[in-house]
Amino acid sequence: MHKLTQKEVFKGLNLENIDFYLLDTVDSTNTFAKQRLLNKEFLVVISEQQTSGRGRQGKEWYSPDAGNIYMTIKFKDKNPAPLSLIIGLLISEAMDSASGQKINAGLKWPNDLLINKKKICGILIESEINADEVEFIVGIGINYSLPKKELWWGEIGELKDILPREKLINSILRGIISYKENGYQNWVDAWEKRCMHMGMELKAVLNNQLKAEIGIFNGINEEGMMLLQTATELKVISSGECSIKGIY
Ligand code: BTN
Repeated sequence: MHKLTQKEVFKGLNLENIDFYLLDTVDSTNTFAKQRLLNKEFLVVISEQQTSGRGRQGKEWYSPDAGNIYMTIKFKDKNPAPLSLIIGLLISEAMDSASGQKINAGLKWPNDLLINKKKICGILIESEINADEVEFIVGIGINYSLPKKELWWGEIGELKDILPREKLINSILRGIISYKENGYQNWVDAWEKRCMHMGMELKAVLNNQLKAEIGIFNGINEEGMMLLQTATELKVISSGECSIKGIY
């Protein structure tokens, strides 16, 4: 299988601002990035395989050496918008710009990307406080091919000719670099346009709470919180997951 090369991944990017590691295997690109200092503006870690890939909520992220994307970008972010939702939006946009087509990967709150109702990308954002500054460790997993399958796991193998992974990684990096420099005006509108469950009924499961809320998804606010119209009130939900009938 064609391995990722520095030349393709970082094409046109200024490596004076980027420290990077292209690895064959690692426990987790997030763990690896956490253990390293941020000496330049960005630290990028990419691996062909992970032996202990981590998902959200302590779950495992299945990470075979199968031509998927396992990458982590570490940087400081002073923009006010919630990074977690922004990253999902930037990846959905990067898929369109890298392929030159409207792939329209749908966003599912807070930051999953879905194609054909299945999850094709997961994002795990961690943070560390270093000398009063917050460093974000943004982990991105995108599946092209999964030898093992779960019902909700999707893959984008059929897009690999129009969306080769080195091109997609390059576009994602460009998006994040540009966001760090310039922020993102009207990101709420852009996020809602790409959201695949606007106006739909869903069940929101709140973090650290056993309680779930059912209601109509009414979009998000400037902090990225979910606005959920339940039978009795408009609830603002800050963190958690959501599930929608018929969709992973
Ligand atoms: C999720 O549960 O949806 C988030 C999955 C995040 C997976 C990526 S793969 C690269 C990075 N390293 C990890 O260990 N996890 C993230």
